[in-house]
Parts: sequence; structure tokens; C-alpha cells
Amino acid sequence: MTLTAIIGGTGLTRLPEFEISHRENRKTQWGAPSSDLIYGKFHGADVVFIARHGERHTIPPHRINYRANIEALKDAGVSAIIAAAAVGGIRTDLGPAKIAVPSQIIDYSHGRAGTFFEDHLAHVTHIDFTHPYSPSLREKLLDAGFRAGIRVVDGGVYACTQGPRLETAAEIVRIERDGGDMVGMTGMPEAALARELAIDYACCAIVANWAAGKSTEEISMAEIEHNLLAGMADFARLLECLFKP
Ligand code: HPA
Repeated sequence: MTLTAIIGGTGLTRLPEFEISHRENRKTQWGAPSSDLIYGKFHGADVVFIARHGERHTIPPHRINYRANIEALKDAGVSAIIAAAAVGGIRTDLGPAKIAVPSQIIDYSHGRAGTFFEDHLAHVTHIDFTHPYSPSLREKLLDAGFRAGIRVVDGGVYACTQGPRLETAAEIVRIERDGGDMVGMTGMPEAALARELAIDYACCAIVANWAAGKSTEEISMAEIEHNLLAGMADFARLLECLFKP
């Protein structure tokens, strides 16, 4: 039996049409995960769901216990993680409510516990992170998007900022110059921790707003919520195509 995890981000604290069987309040050596692990069937597949910001959306990006979340999923027997993540769009084809499956990451976050490999080591450990997302899982997501009739953007560089504030316009200019195509706050260290535990990991980035300075409008929570609602509906359809036999 393969067990796939979905990590829900902003705009996805619960999964529609998820037939829940049970919940589990797991503890790890790193502390408690953001929420219970919620198990069930999603269009016939065994799925476990975790709400990255907590089920009441109360945990900000820099306070998420990423190690506890990833280790709890590993302990539960998960072999693949699909991470939903709200982002600001930088590239012109990444407008509000679009979905992208990014292919690369640049990490601008700081001060986060970002590795399992720091104490009581037999050897210093360096993981290969050249391609931070699982190529095979990315392909499956893109194929599911195609079958669902959704124009999913293939690839792009996810820039992870510290948050919780949004960026300045100058920061976005810098990130764009660095090669960033979209900006979010939770992609790291989540992706690296999954790699450390050898779990396939890929991201569906849902564009909540134009990144700072990319539109003349002020970025409001109302706008973010509105766009995420539309983007998450597409994401749910993509997942349905992914899991349906
Ligand atoms: N910046 C960073 N993270 C985000 C944004 C943004 O503009 N929108 C949604 N998550």
C-alpha cells in the first residue's frame, strides 16, 4: 500500500471530498506537528492530510515545526508528499489563481530548524539537492493537470522568504534578478527535510496575488483569499485526476 501525504497551506485547511477514516495526534522527537494527521480515502487512494499552518490557520510560516511535520509523515509510512503552497506571482505568466509545479528553489529564509542531521551523528551528512523536487512526482502532477483540463505552469523557481510580512518591491526586483519566478514563505526547509528522509516531494504552487510591485494595487488579504479560492478549486480537480484510477 502506498500512502501519499498532502500538506495543505493557506487556503487549504481541509480537503474537499476526503472520506476521513481517523485522526492521529502524533508526537516526534522534534515536538508536535502542526495538526493531527488526518487519514482517509481520496477518490479511492489512501491519503493522509496535514494542515501546515494548523487547522485554524494560526501558525505563521517561521513558527511551523517543519521537522515535526515531515518526521510525523515519515513515521506514518508516507512515501510521497504533495505540498500545496500559496505564492505571489513574479513571472508574467504567473498571475492570480494560476497553478505552477515549480522545478527549483532559492532559499531566503533564516533561523529555521532546517535539518535532521545535526546532533549525535556518526558522520556529517550532506544530501544531494540539485533537483529539489521529485521529477517523477512533478510529472504525475503535470499529467493530472493536463487531464483535468487545467493550464498548469511547468517549472519555475520558487523563492522562499522568511515572512510573515510580504516583500518590498525592491526585494522582489532582487529575487527576480536572482531568477525567482514565484515567492512563498513555506517551501523551505520543508522540501529539504523531505529529501533528508528520502520522501518524494513536489509542490503545487497556487498564485494568491501578484508579488510586491508587480501590480499597482495594494496586496490585501481579501484579494489573496479570493484568488486562493479559485486556485484551490482547480487544485482539488487536479488531485482528483491524480488519484482516480
Ligand atoms: N509573498 C510571499 N508569500 C506569499 C505571497 C507573496 O506575495 N503570496 C502568498 N504567499
